[in-house]
Amino acid sequence: MTPFCLLLLLSAALTSVTTASTAYPSILVTDSTTDCGLSGGDENPIPVRREVYGNGKIFDISHRYTADMPSWESKDGIGQFLWLPKSMKNGSLANNSEMKLPTHTGTHLDAPGHVIDRYFDAGFDVDTLDLEVLNGLALLIDVPRDNNITAEVMDSLKIPKGVRRVLFRTLNTDRRLMFQKEFDTSYVGFMKDGAEWLVKNTDIKLVGIDYLSVAAFDDLIPSHLAFLEGRDIILVEGLKLDDIQPGIYSMHSHQMMYSPSNDDSKGFMS
Ligand SMILES: *[C@@H]1O[C@H](CO)[C@@H](O)[C@H](O)[C@H]1NC(C)=O
Ligand SMILES: *[C@@H]1O[C@H](CO)[C@@H](O)[C@H](O)[C@H]1NC(C)=O
Ligand SMILES: *[C@@H]1O[C@H](CO)[C@@H](O)[C@H](O)[C@H]1NC(C)=O
Repeated sequence: MTPFCLLLLLSAALTSVTTASTAYPSILVTDSTTDCGLSGGDENPIPVRREVYGNGKIFDISHRYTADMPSWESKDGIGQFLWLPKSMKNGSLANNSEMKLPTHTGTHLDAPGHVIDRYFDAGFDVDTLDLEVLNGLALLIDVPRDNNITAEVMDSLKIPKGVRRVLFRTLNTDRRLMFQKEFDTSYVGFMKDGAEWLVKNTDIKLVGIDYLSVAAFDDLIPSHLAFLEGRDIILVEGLKLDDIQPGIYSMHSHQMMYSPSNDDSKGFMS
């Protein structure tokens, strides 16, 4: 698959849904220079890593890559994924980093070829996904915390016809599963009947969720098949939806390649 980086942003489409709680940022960045009592200043500026911009109007909903973030079916997280083969301290003109990590890491998209081999062979990779689907108005909705996403749950959500993008916030966010190193199979996702219900009864073409798979572990392949068979639904997995009010937002997906030099970075691939 052709890899590319993805930064997802939600910006408030309605001013009434713009409040961010003080729980942001969701990752505490420990900075040794501040620990030593040194402050920033012109000589030693300290980078500010933000997840909320524009006075709470824009939210970064992609996860920062860290060695301790969860990796599919692993106890150990993704581990080291970034190296600095060219460094200014060692005489290079610039710092150049190298990254290696599973494409299913962090906030990422699933292409149709992910679970359907004939689509993989035919080249249905992430480059073939529709940018018009990836960008536009999206509904952020909370699902009941006592169940996986079944047909019955989908029916109860009463998502109006015409809604094309839905980010489903689940118990996974409350449990902070994306911040836990050890992969957890008990995450919430779509059961097969929930996926089939969505395909049949709604206009949703972008399905977002807050852990590494839209499909519950028990229905892993059947739910993916229900979503991806038609090749018109895009799955966005591993979203960071903490502390954002439910509501309608403008969703932006920025694809980019870039050269991170620090030990954490963010983006995505599939
Ligand atoms: C360049 O690499 C050095 C390590 O050699 C690192 O300390 C420094 O922060 C890097 N500079 C930038 C701009 O990333
Ligand atoms: C610079 O090179 C030395 C010797 O090869 C190596 O041990 C060190 O880790 C390098 N430093 C950086 C910042 O790349
Ligand atoms: C969702 O399904 C998983 C198995 O795929 C199960 O372990 C978990 O308990 C279920 N969650 C809820 C809230 O029912």
